[in-house]
Amino acid sequence: MANSVKFLKFTNKEVASFYAASAIYRLFAYAIGEEKMVLGTATGQTPVLTYRELIRLARKSEIFTNYGEKYLILRQLDNYISPDATADNLPNYSYQIELENSIWKLPNCGAYIPKEYAEDPEEEADKYAQIIQDTNAEAKLVVQLLGIGDEDGHIAFNMPGDSFESTVHVVELNEETIRANANKFFGGDESKVPRKAITTGIGDILESDIIILEAFGKAKADIIWKSFFTEPSTEIPASALQISDENKVVLVILDEESASVVSEKEGEEVFDNPLDVFESIEYHIFCN
Ligand code: F6R
Repeated sequence: MANSVKFLKFTNKEVASFYAASAIYRLFAYAIGEEKMVLGTATGQTPVLTYRELIRLARKSEIFTNYGEKYLILRQLDNYISPDATADNLPNYSYQIELENSIWKLPNCGAYIPKEYAEDPEEEADKYAQIIQDTNAEAKLVVQLLGIGDEDGHIAFNMPGDSFESTVHVVELNEETIRANANKFFGGDESKVPRKAITTGIGDILESDIIILEAFGKAKADIIWKSFFTEPSTEIPASALQISDENKVVLVILDEESASVVSEKEGEEVFDNPLDVFESIEYHIFCN
């Protein structure tokens, strides 16, 4: 396993999310001393509490209000392509609406998301690839927040079999994903789930300086173990995080339940001390 992967286990998802938000907040505070920071965002259930806490921290501090607009770039991982969407009429399941109601409430930030209503998804994917390149070049620090698919270990819309080198691309959702999305977001009605999406590739994700993967609850316990303690394989997209450069940092933030299989099979020694991890990410910022 790459030295850079740090495992952190917290009593519950509230404490874990509080830690993740504090880490992001501290990183931003350091980054603005020099330049901009990209915060790559994920949608889904997992990061909701982290966003809430980050917004609470931001409202209490002048750092975001004074520097957010100039120094923080929010960049969404992926988006559906919805056939009926238009620029001013997004469907209620829209990722954009979800983000506007959560992390985009951070004051004054620039925000990017692939256009859900793009007439030509391939062209939109190319434009988004350019945005990723440009924002990476502009930023001193790229922090990417990730969730993970319960059974197959997908990250963003990168599914089993996708190359670890992939960049932004258009995805045709497979049957399993359509079923899972229907159950999660569309009251079980598969006909309502969009068939296509634009996703950041695994190669793009691996370019980030700091990756924070959050996973909470029993349903993620098995895939977390497989992703980080078996040989990296394209059959488990999240296992790509094992092979990120040694000078990058991957934080895997878990609660007791999602950490249970790792604890059982690998023992408690694999978990890092949360305060030491703060120190190592500070080292990363100052010494890279
Ligand atoms: C989010 C995303 C997905 C989710 C994953 C887990 O933008 O692309 O990869 O992170 O499906 O979803 P939750 O957090 O709802 O379990």
